[in-house]
Amino acid sequence: MRHLITTKDFSNSEVIELFQEAKEFLDEKPRDFLKEKSITTIFFENSTRTLSSFESAARRLGARVLRLDVSRSSSSKGETLYDTAANLDAMHPHAIIVRHANSGVPRILSSCVHCPVVNGGDGKHAHPTQALLDLFTIYEHFQGDIENKRILIVGDIKNSRVASSNIELLSRFGIKITLVAPPHFMPNTSLPKSYLLNEELIENADIIMSLRTQVERHEKIVYASLKDYANDFCINPKLIKDKKLILLHPGPVNRNIDISDEVMKDQRALILKQVKNGVAIRMAVLKKLILEN
Ligand code: NCD
Repeated sequence: MRHLITTKDFSNSEVIELFQEAKEFLDEKPRDFLKEKSITTIFFENSTRTLSSFESAARRLGARVLRLDVSRSSSSKGETLYDTAANLDAMHPHAIIVRHANSGVPRILSSCVHCPVVNGGDGKHAHPTQALLDLFTIYEHFQGDIENKRILIVGDIKNSRVASSNIELLSRFGIKITLVAPPHFMPNTSLPKSYLLNEELIENADIIMSLRTQVERHEKIVYASLKDYANDFCINPKLIKDKKLILLHPGPVNRNIDISDEVMKDQRALILKQVKNGVAIRMAVLKKLILEN
C-alpha cells in the first residue's frame, strides 16, 4: 500500500507525472475518476486552506467525502490513536487524509489501516502536498526550467513543516536554497544560510518563500516581538524593488509581519495561484494513490 507521508514517497519522475496531470485539472472541470470512492478527512489541528483544498479536490473527482469532526470524536474522550484508526478502517474508506499537531501520527495511522493515508501536515515534520503545490507553482511559472533557480526561504524555518518538506523536494530538483532567518528560527543545516535579509540576497534570488511565525509551536517567546521580526524580515517594496522574482507563501499570511499590504497586491505574489494549484495537485495525488494502489 502506498501512502504520502513525506515528499520522499514520490520519485522525481512521479512528481513530474503528477504535475502533468495537475495541469489538466487546472481547468476546474468536474471529473469522475473517483466515482463511488469515499475519502475521510480527519484534521486534529486547525486548517482553512488545506482541509477545504483536499475536500474540493476529492469532490471534483467525484468522490464522497466524510469529514470527521475531531472536536466531537472519541480522541477527546481518551480513545487511543490505534483504536481510532481501527474504527476508521472498519468503515472501509478509500483514502484517509490526516492532520495532527504531533509529528509521526500519519505514519502510525498508515501502519494500521487498509487504504492510502495522505499527510495533511504533522507537527513540525512534513507537509508533502504543500511542497508539491509550491514546486508545481514554481514549475509552471518557469515553464519547467527550474534547475539552478535560486530560492530564499524566509522566516520561522525551524518550526515549519512547510520548510522541511520544501527543502527535501526542491533540492532534489536542483533548486538552490538559501535559508534566511534570525538565529532562533534557523534550523541546524548544511544549506547556505543568512541571519539577515538584505538586498544582495534578493538581487540573486528568483523566488522568495515567506513563512508564518509558528507561534503555536514556540515553547517560550524567543524574540522581542513580532514587530521586531517584521522590521527585519517582512517582504516589503523597499526590499524587493522591481526585482524580477516570484513570491510564495503557504498561508495563512500575517500581513505586515510576513509580507506587507503593498506586496500582497503585487503581481509577483503568487499566493492565490498556490491555492488554486493546490486543489489540482491534491486531485492528482488522490487519483494516483487511490487508483494505483
Ligand atoms: C501551513 C501549515 O499548516 O503548516 N499552512 C498551510 O497548510 N497552508 C503553514 C502555516 O500554518 O503557517
